[in-house]
Amino acid sequence: MTLSLALALRMARSQLADGSEAAAMLDEASEQLMRALAELRELARGIHPAILTDRGLAAALEALAGRTPVPVELSIVAPGDIPDQIEATVYYVVAEALTNTAKYANATCARVSVGSDGRRLTVNVADDGRGGADRELGSGLSGLADRVSALGGRLHVISPAGGGTTVIAELPLAPTPEQAAAEGRTARAPSRSSEADEAIRSAARRARRVPRPGGPA
Ligand SMILES: Nc1ncnc2c1ncn2[C@@H]1O[C@H](COP(=O)(O)OP(=O)(O)OP(=O)(O)O)[C@@H](O)[C@H]1O
Ligand SMILES: [Mg+2]
Repeated sequence: MTLSLALALRMARSQLADGSEAAAMLDEASEQLMRALAELRELARGIHPAILTDRGLAAALEALAGRTPVPVELSIVAPGDIPDQIEATVYYVVAEALTNTAKYANATCARVSVGSDGRRLTVNVADDGRGGADRELGSGLSGLADRVSALGGRLHVISPAGGGTTVIAELPLAPTPEQAAAEGRTARAPSRSSEADEAIRSAARRARRVPRPGGPA
């Protein structure tokens, strides 16, 4: 389907003179399609996204924010030596959550934050849209939950009707007890970071209030 779409775009483009506004729009559409296809292939293979290797987490998340159709506020305070698998999972969580915001939320803005207490990385993606996200209705959020739990973490989706959507992933930076046991070491059981706790509490507070976040706190 995507190949015939690429072909259709190319045929339409060949009907247009270089330099026209429509030609520029079609060129841009083709480029976006190519990027989406490349991303789809990476996702399908579970490959470390190339942009992470080339430009690092902050630039990769900025790129995701930049192509979201609503303004996205980014805050990244994370250690520089995050293991590849965790970094890729952060990327996929933000990519899926922002894609969902664009597709369903009818939001006016979104906020992405990545933080760490040294033992856990917490990723929080919130929008001020219509809420009602339900991981039973698709494969994106449940796939994320699987991916996060494969790393010993947890995914929370807080999305009351009319109250915006907050997706929070907590990812242990230290080995999980299972990983540590497999390596013959001991590790403390993963506990929720205070940052994640506060994020969940504030999302729950918003859920009770229902008026949009982004409005007066
Ligand atoms: N930010 C959001 N705002 C409003 N509704 C949402 C939001 N995110 C998800 N949803 C709702 O939750 C459902 C499940 O989302 P999920 O990402 O799991 O699946 P999907 O987007 O429908 O499909 P896929 O991700 O597999 O393409 C969506 O179909 C949508 O109805
Ligand atoms: Mg989705």
